Amino acid sequence: MSGSIDLRFNVQPGGALTGRLRVPGDKSISHRSIMLGSLAQGVTEVSGFLEGEDSLATLSAFRAMGVQIEGPDAGKVKIQGVGLHGLQAPADNLYLGNSGTSMRLMSGLLSGQSFNTTLTGDVSLSGRPMNRVVEPLMSMGAAIEATTGGTAPLQVQGGRQLSGIDYVMPVASAQVKSSLLLAGLYASGTTCVSEPAPTRDHTERMLSGMGYSLQRQADRVCLQGGGTLRGIAIDIPADISSAAFFLVGASIAPGSELVLEHVGMNPTRTGIINILQRMGADITLLNERDVGSEPVADLLVRSAQLRGIDIPPELVPLAIDEFPVVFVAAACAQGRTVLTGAAELRVKESDRIQVMADGLQALGVDAQPTAEGMVIEGGKIGGGCVDSHGDHRIAMAFSMAALRANADIEITDCANVNTSFPGFVDQAHRMGLAIRTG
Ligand code: S3P
Repeated sequence: MSGSIDLRFNVQPGGALTGRLRVPGDKSISHRSIMLGSLAQGVTEVSGFLEGEDSLATLSAFRAMGVQIEGPDAGKVKIQGVGLHGLQAPADNLYLGNSGTSMRLMSGLLSGQSFNTTLTGDVSLSGRPMNRVVEPLMSMGAAIEATTGGTAPLQVQGGRQLSGIDYVMPVASAQVKSSLLLAGLYASGTTCVSEPAPTRDHTERMLSGMGYSLQRQADRVCLQGGGTLRGIAIDIPADISSAAFFLVGASIAPGSELVLEHVGMNPTRTGIINILQRMGADITLLNERDVGSEPVADLLVRSAQLRGIDIPPELVPLAIDEFPVVFVAAACAQGRTVLTGAAELRVKESDRIQVMADGLQALGVDAQPTAEGMVIEGGKIGGGCVDSHGDHRIAMAFSMAALRANADIEITDCANVNTSFPGFVDQAHRMGLAIRTG
């Protein structure tokens, strides 16, 4: 649970990562499978569902709105879709834990319902900016009340007639885009969203897969309200954002050779592979194939000497969740790595620029935070204690840093690793990381 500060990881230095593994299912696609499966007509059968706290929060919320959902059982979920107008008023507030995706996407979808809802979250989620969805949704005719600081709880009023808008997003955000498209399903006329840089397009792909017509042109996507979705089978690939820890771990630990199976290769998500290859990583894509509407591959990664790079700003939205572990790769690289244009990292589950800089400095790494990024000089990593601030990806990133540290790394506040990667400690241990919980 969030707020629990008891779970610590202790990771001994050294070792190599070897073997084969399939990391848990993609978090973004898991959320969308529940949301769109619930709104579809007929049954949606999901495999590879992420049984992590974030996607389970979405699942519980739709159950609370009357949707019958069987599972999850070994990644299988069966959703009896109720159609776009079949959700029922929940008896209570919908608690969404640590999950920004649940809150932002659902605020759009719930703006089109006939009933009121209140969305709440944990301390981290309650501090994250929600006006980025509230403001455009209000301009579609929604009525949403946030706190004066523009944060959750969000009170979403039902019974409003929404109208389509043509929205140019000021930040590259798939959550904002998806929220508006979901509201657009209920709006009169056409809803269009333009993005300043490409962001993950799982919502668009799943809508199309369910038979909903979308128009996509360069940086703009449009849909008309009033259509229907049809239930389908969804095979969710392993999450490239979870695979990223092992891509970096195996790259930095001499003697590593690892195959990551069935990893999602959607081109709006593969920035991490591009960045690591530019740094000199040895990553090979095997067995590339399509699974439903998403591309998938097995990834072979072998250790390599990495070098520092200037990370091209256009890759930032394509690797937005991977920077904690990219910073660890940079700390192990020869020379300097410079990240710019990544201010969004400051409003993730934690301020990932500050928290990573603090943690790297605690381990003796020369890491200088900037307003919109970081400058890291590769070199030696020492041991020490690092505070993850309850951010799952910070905890997992520093676990991998131990592969190149010269003493133990202790990481505090790690319980939220369960939001995206249940079983991380066991899987990492099995692959060769000397990690234990305490
Ligand atoms: C997500 C989009 C990203 C990402 C988040 C999941 C999604 O957020 O950081 O973990 O599923 O749409 P932004 O779109 O706000 O950058």
